[in-house]
Amino acid sequence: MAKVSFEQIKGFVFDLDGVITDTSLYHTKAWHQLADKLDVTWSKELEDGLKGISRMDSLEMILKAGHKENDYTHDEKVALATEKNTNYVNEISKMTPENILPGIKAFLDDLRANGYQIALASASKNGPTVLKNLELTDYFPKIVDPASLSKGKPDPEIYTKGAELLGLAPETCIGVEDAAAGIEAINAANEVSVGIGDATLLKDADVRFDNTAEMTLANIKKAMA
Ligand code: BG6
Ligand code: MG
Repeated sequence: MAKVSFEQIKGFVFDLDGVITDTSLYHTKAWHQLADKLDVTWSKELEDGLKGISRMDSLEMILKAGHKENDYTHDEKVALATEKNTNYVNEISKMTPENILPGIKAFLDDLRANGYQIALASASKNGPTVLKNLELTDYFPKIVDPASLSKGKPDPEIYTKGAELLGLAPETCIGVEDAAAGIEAINAANEVSVGIGDATLLKDADVRFDNTAEMTLANIKKAMA
C-alpha cells in the first residue's frame, strides 16, 4: 500500500544509471578495475553499496573496504577518481539509443502523453552526456545538478530538489531507482518510491519491479491500489 493514491501523482523523478540505461555496469567495471589496482578485494556487497553513490564518496567506500582510507592525500584521491572517470567516459562515448533499457522509451512517451512532468535526479556528473548519447535529452527538461548538492544519496536532497524543479509537492512525485541508497533518499524526501531490481536489496521500495519492461503506468497504478 503506497503513501498516496495513484491519482494524486503528477510527476516522475528518475535516477539514470541502472534505470534508464545500464551504465551501472560501466561504473562497476571501472571501479572494480581501480579496486584491483589499489589491492582492495572486490565483493558483491561493495558493488551493490556503490550504486547511487557520488564519485568521491564511492572512492572513499572502496578505500574503506580495504582499510586504506588514510593512505592517500586529497590530491591523490582526486587523481584516482579522475582515472576511474576517464575509463567510464570512454565506455559511455560508445553508447547509442540501443543502450536504453527495455520499455523505458515507451514509458517516457506514455508519461508525456498523459501530462506527467519528468525530472532527472542522478548523482552522475556525466548524466547529460549519457542522455545525449541515448537521444533522450528532450524528455528531461529538468535535471538536478549533482554539483549543487551538499549531500549525496541516501540523503533526500537530490529528490527534494527534483520535485522543486517540477514545482510539485514531493508526495505527488514518484521516484524511480535501482539502488538501495536511492530508495532511502526517495522515501526520506516523502515521495513514492519505485524500485527496479532485486527484492532483498530494494526491500524498502513502495513499489518494485524485477526489470524496466514491467514498469508501466498500468502496473504502477495496480501496485499502488
Ligand atoms: C550514480 C551511479 O548514478 O552516479 C554511481 O549509480 C556513480 O555508480 C555516481 O558513482 C556518480 O557518477 P559520476 O559519473 O559523476 O562519476
Ligand atoms: Mg542507479
